[in-house]
Amino acid sequence: MTETLTITKPDDWHLHLRDGDLMRAVLPYTAAQFARAIIMPNLVPPVVTTEDAKSYRDRIFSSIPENVDFTPLMTAYLTDNTDPEDLRAGISEKVFVGVKMYPANATTNSAHGVTDWRKTERVLAVLEETNTPLLVHGEVTDQDVDIFDREKVFIDEILLPLSKKFSTLKIVLEHVTTKDGVDFVKEGGKNIAATITPHHLVINRNEIFRGGIRPHLYCLPIAKREKHRLALRAAAVSGKECFFLGTDSAPHPISSKESECGCAGIFNAPTALEIYAQVFDEENALDRFEKFASFNGPNFYNLPVNDHKITLSKQGSESPDLIEISSTGDQLMPFLSGKELAWKVI
Ligand code: NCD
Ligand code: ZN
Repeated sequence: MTETLTITKPDDWHLHLRDGDLMRAVLPYTAAQFARAIIMPNLVPPVVTTEDAKSYRDRIFSSIPENVDFTPLMTAYLTDNTDPEDLRAGISEKVFVGVKMYPANATTNSAHGVTDWRKTERVLAVLEETNTPLLVHGEVTDQDVDIFDREKVFIDEILLPLSKKFSTLKIVLEHVTTKDGVDFVKEGGKNIAATITPHHLVINRNEIFRGGIRPHLYCLPIAKREKHRLALRAAAVSGKECFFLGTDSAPHPISSKESECGCAGIFNAPTALEIYAQVFDEENALDRFEKFASFNGPNFYNLPVNDHKITLSKQGSESPDLIEISSTGDQLMPFLSGKELAWKVI
């Protein structure tokens, strides 16, 4: 008999939904697998104020396919000039569930990010006081620091002093990619957590260059050495409350990926759960999958767990081919496009 696995419906604690046609093309994939998702605010221009987030949330709601139950959880994009009182209002109105800190110019659409975390101390104080998580893109932007070391240097130079000064602030090290990051989170208190992506669990940095350069495997933080991938797998399947699911699905049109200066971002929404399930299966840890996918995230965010269930079956599936972005004539290349996967969401 085909093996099946029924778990509480999961949430995606790190998602780039984009806007307009691109959002309408990708949203159904996420809404088919996840009940809620933390929506990243790095639009152009970014989602900075409570008003920005309300209007983005309205656009998301009007793009959700009919009869589909999906709740976007909004975040604010932190800048040097973010108004702490506007954030406080957005938090108390339950518009914002978190605030995202991008170091200026660290990644796609982060030009308005934070130039020095000390400039945001008044905001951090509001977050700490209101028990609202700070979500960090954990890479320094100094071009003199090797791209493979930027997470570790960020931890040493920014995260350690910041988390010491705001010692009860909830912090999520988003899309952790290194053993150093995993260790930082494990050694931290109950207020420190990390999301882990499907792609960082299955590729190491060699995959990006296997047989040539593979732009669709380029994302930030970039995939690291094998020892780091193994540390991420061990963390994900450990069942520890501080690690939970966040896809970092980050769609870019093929024309922006396959170019002289290709964008960072992997579009994994169509098969994210299947890939995670495969990893837990390979690690003989399917009994801990529900914690990682459905319990640890809501517990950290102080939100109820979902009451619906979802079933996966080990009947095999295939990651879809190219996906059209209507009206632009451009397409998206899903992660592992055309590859066989063991599991399928049914
Ligand atoms: C993200 C994007 O495209 O918005 N890209 C990525 O490689 N992950 C930004 C981000 O999360 O760094
Ligand atoms: Zn991201």
